[in-house]
Amino acid sequence: MFQHLIVYLFAVSQLVSLTGAQDECPLQLNPQRVVVRYGGSVAVTCNTSVAHKGIGWEASERLVPMTRNQSLITWRVSELTEWDINPYCYINPNKGAQCQIELPVTVYKTPDSVSISTVIHTEPMKEGQQYELQCDVHGVAPVQYLTVKWYKNQTLLNQTTFSDTIETPVNKTVTLLIRPDRADDGAQYRCEAELDLGAEGPQPPPKINSTEPLNVEVYYKPRHSSSTETIIKDDKVMLDCTVKANPAPDYTWSSDHLNLNISSSVIKSSALSPGKYTCNATNTQGSDIKVFIVKSTGTRHTFWTVLIVFLLLVTLIVIILFCFFSSFLMKCCDINTLK
Ligand SMILES: *[C@@H]1O[C@H](CO)[C@@H](O)[C@H](O)[C@H]1NC(C)=O
Ligand SMILES: *[C@@H]1O[C@H](CO)[C@@H](O)[C@H](O)[C@H]1NC(C)=O
Ligand SMILES: *[C@@H]1O[C@H](CO)[C@@H](O)[C@H](O)[C@H]1NC(C)=O
Ligand SMILES: *[C@@H]1O[C@H](CO)[C@@H](O)[C@H](O)[C@H]1NC(C)=O
Ligand SMILES: *[C@@H]1O[C@H](CO)[C@@H](O)[C@H](O)[C@H]1NC(C)=O
Ligand SMILES: *[C@@H]1O[C@H](CO)[C@@H](O)[C@H](O)[C@H]1NC(C)=O
Ligand SMILES: *[C@@H]1O[C@H](CO)[C@@H](O)[C@H](O)[C@H]1NC(C)=O
Ligand SMILES: *[C@@H]1O[C@H](CO)[C@@H](O)[C@H](O)[C@H]1NC(C)=O
Repeated sequence: MFQHLIVYLFAVSQLVSLTGAQDECPLQLNPQRVVVRYGGSVAVTCNTSVAHKGIGWEASERLVPMTRNQSLITWRVSELTEWDINPYCYINPNKGAQCQIELPVTVYKTPDSVSISTVIHTEPMKEGQQYELQCDVHGVAPVQYLTVKWYKNQTLLNQTTFSDTIETPVNKTVTLLIRPDRADDGAQYRCEAELDLGAEGPQPPPKINSTEPLNVEVYYKPRHSSSTETIIKDDKVMLDCTVKANPAPDYTWSSDHLNLNISSSVIKSSALSPGKYTCNATNTQGSDIKVFIVKSTGTRHTFWTVLIVFLLLVTLIVIILFCFFSSFLMKCCDINTLK
């Protein structure tokens, strides 16, 4: 029973290897896949170890005629200028039918140009609004290996790949939505086209930057980090209203204690009365106020004065009381001694 099973399994495996041998073509390509630049050169060998009636290469360019004598033939193109070349090596074995092995060829071309621009150009940008950036990649093949990457300075923002299987060069446009804030003022946006053709492709994968990066200017309104500040009046007082904004803000000051118009962002003075001073920083995008409360050190003076006077008074009273009691006691003693 068990032996029968083994015999059966043996027969099945024989059958499988037999059909396998029929499917297999006794040819070997070296290399088995090629990645070649458009206009570049390529050479691939095809060899066999079986006796045959002929072996050859077929291709839409530079085919190799069938030969009976050789066991190794080379397909060679010094300047490949076809996108769809489809070469294959074939053999007519003495035993069996003609068979062939296809050579996968990837013909690539790095982009002619990569450029970045803004859609609906409104320069400069305004904080918080949405804008669309556009990257145009021209003349790249095959697009299925292309990745378009977006960068802000050195930070990767987004990337796009393509699933088209077209082999000839194409133009691609990719867009990116951005909502810049004040920190993005002066940032540099660029897009980069990368052609990653795998292990057989050029290493490292070719990368092409957008020719001119996009330098972004962002308009934003003033915004103070704190809206009030209390200052104890010393010899000198400095009220600093300076705040970052684009365009640079104008400053106006208002206070019951100011009788002249001040347009600078800082007030430095030794003769500033205690009270409330309001600064208003304004640019085209908006305004923001900051309130300074100047307190005089006078209140502290009175406190110490009162305390010192009070202590002096207490000391005086204690001394008087002491004198009074001691004189009284002395009188008592005098009386006692007299007795
Ligand atoms: C082709 O040549 C290589 C090296 O010369 C050899 O190892 C290989 O077995 C050959 N292939 C066939 C199918 O004969
Ligand atoms: C095969 O090679 C021999 C000499 O090596 C040559 O005389 C003959 O013409 C060749 N045959 C073919 C079909 O190329
Ligand atoms: C990033 O790219 C993906 C696919 O390309 C897209 O769906 C997504 O909206 C993009 N994100 C931004 C912020 O543009
Ligand atoms: C790509 O753009 C270039 C230049 O604008 C144009 O000449 C070419 O025909 C375009 N190619 C395709 C495939 O649309
Ligand atoms: C990066 O962007 C900031 C603004 O966000 C800019 O001030 C700075 O110069 C940029 N740095 C580089 C290295 O480009
Ligand atoms: C693209 O530009 C950036 C910044 O200018 C640089 O760091 C990077 O090396 C460039 N990449 C290529 C492939 O030229
Ligand atoms: C300050 O400016 C206002 C209007 O801008 C003007 O009416 C006022 O006279 C000015 N005051 C002084 C002291 O210059
Ligand atoms: C600040 O000044 C701007 C421009 O003059 C004005 O529109 C705004 O109302 C002022 N802000 C305050 C709180 O007074």
